[in-house]
Amino acid sequence: MPLNPTSLLYAVVPAAGVGKRMGANRPKQYLTLNGRPILSHTLALLLNHPRIHRVIVALGPEDGYFADLEEANHPRLLRVEGGAERADSVRLALAAIPEPEAWALVHDAARPCLSHSDIDKLLAFPGEQGAILAAPVRDTMKRANGEGGIDHTVARERLWHALTPQLFPAQALRDALTRAEQAGAVITDEASAMEREGWHPALVAGRPDNIKITHPDDLRLAQLFLASQEA
Ligand code: CTP
Ligand code: MG
Repeated sequence: MPLNPTSLLYAVVPAAGVGKRMGANRPKQYLTLNGRPILSHTLALLLNHPRIHRVIVALGPEDGYFADLEEANHPRLLRVEGGAERADSVRLALAAIPEPEAWALVHDAARPCLSHSDIDKLLAFPGEQGAILAAPVRDTMKRANGEGGIDHTVARERLWHALTPQLFPAQALRDALTRAEQAGAVITDEASAMEREGWHPALVAGRPDNIKITHPDDLRLAQLFLASQEA
């Protein structure tokens, strides 16, 4: 069933990570950017998109911060407990979608600079195999030899960075994630679970400001991007 104007669209937000690489005193999604927690920016932009029916957020079992967010009691927001890996958190959130025909737009909590124009572009993808926002690789790519040197150069043609959101039929994605988990496959994005099933999701070129906040330096960049979007 393709995505059509009447398809119910859920946004799924994995937000159960601990932010190890950020190394802050709390999970990175609760660090403040331009006066509001990162997760608050992300949830608000999804809740404010006219096409999104509900937002499901997966939280860590020990989360002591979510209840303080402005969006915590939003009537179209549902919270579930996440899992050990990102893919587990997504799978558990998908399990809360009751309609078998629904579509899911999975978006990292740690990408608060996503713009509505990129969501619209993704929703306009052609075909039935899902789609992801992505960015073509710009730099020359090297495969390391494991000893601090270069083994060889990897051709850059047709290489893309996978971003989020990633858009799939909710039930098919949930089944694919379940099978990947049973097979012990390492799944770092939704598309890779679908690729295991023989799907060829569309690549939709996204804006370069949709960064994933990973390291402390990313906070300054995200601050600039958010400020320029608000201007
Ligand atoms: N995530 C999740 N459940 C997990 C792990 C990650 O929901 N078990 C979420 C994170 O909260 C984040 C997104 O997946 O919004 C992308 O993951 P990443 O950037 O790796 O965040 P963390 O896992 O928190 O960071 P790190 O890997 O540095 O610990
Ligand atoms: Mg992680």
